[in-house]
Amino acid sequence: PPMALVLGLESSCDETAVALVDNDGNIISSHLATQEILHRPYGGVVPEIAARAHVERLEPLVRKVLNESGKNLSEIDAIAATAGPGLIGGVMVGFVTGKALSLACKKPLIAINHLEGHALTPRLADKTLSFPYLLLLISGGHCQILLVKNVGEYRRLATTIDDAGGEAFDKTAKILGLGFPGGPAVEREALNGDPMAVPLPRPLIKSKEPHFSFAGLKTAVLRAYQSGIYKRHDIAASFQQAVIDCLVNRSEKALKKIEGENIQINAFVIAGGMAANQAIRPALTDLAEAHNLPLIAPPPSLCTDNGAMIAWAGVERFRLGMIDNLESPARARWPL
Ligand code: KG4
Ligand code: ZN
Repeated sequence: PPMALVLGLESSCDETAVALVDNDGNIISSHLATQEILHRPYGGVVPEIAARAHVERLEPLVRKVLNESGKNLSEIDAIAATAGPGLIGGVMVGFVTGKALSLACKKPLIAINHLEGHALTPRLADKTLSFPYLLLLISGGHCQILLVKNVGEYRRLATTIDDAGGEAFDKTAKILGLGFPGGPAVEREALNGDPMAVPLPRPLIKSKEPHFSFAGLKTAVLRAYQSGIYKRHDIAASFQQAVIDCLVNRSEKALKKIEGENIQINAFVIAGGMAANQAIRPALTDLAEAHNLPLIAPPPSLCTDNGAMIAWAGVERFRLGMIDNLESPARARWPL
């Protein structure tokens, strides 16, 4: 395959991130500017504030990554930038910057679907992971189970009918007054809690298709909190346990479906921001082992949004000749 040194830009939500990754999956340099303190007063990401912050932060980050790696733009083989889905203002900032860099250094532009970035990152983290694999993609905006057949070839087995899992963590954190961002705060609070203390629903657990639903769980958390009966850490732990039970049950359904169709897969894989949660990994490891599969989970820093995942998806596409042109659009919605 042709050598590839790819610069990746990510700006679809509240992290501005840039990284340089090579053909062998070496992360030469990777930097990120988080916007947490800008959005914290609002308890969630404000799209307009995010877009402006990306404008200010992207170029300095590109310089930092190039400086640190000792490379100049002419030595880079391609520019990969997130082209969606996400908050459209931020996506446009990053994608237009990618186009400008591509034009300036006369190197191909690769439009990356943010979800594909998450979906392929496990192959960056574990070089032995080959296609096909079953992926549980759990982020702030998405909750899906995908059969990953190849680069650009996905079959969606399940999605959420309302909220994403990460969104449920964020809303639970807000209800419990744990602040923003919610996922890590709930995980920390749950450490000292009893996961059996609060009775909470496991939505859709009996449904035939492996879909997800988290809206009812969030409402139940609100009622439990307002009842005044339960301790905060017990609600956090019980909520997290309910999510884990749903993830395991739904994933098992999907694994059985794949087995029923006699499709051979190489691993059960998790990715996306919520996959950074350390409490959910043991249960999913057990599930994978019961199906004679390894559980592959990237390190937490590669689960939450970052530049390396976009650069790596760029490497994977570049080697297959999948490049885009300057007319390629930025998209708020873009299913895999
Ligand atoms: O993938 P990501 O960084 O951005 C999106 O593409 O959405 O995912 C962010 C989501 C947020 O909802 C955040 O609360 C959740 O991932 N998250 C976590 C943890 N770390 C991040 N959820 C649970 N436990 C965590 N440790
Ligand atoms: Zn993401």
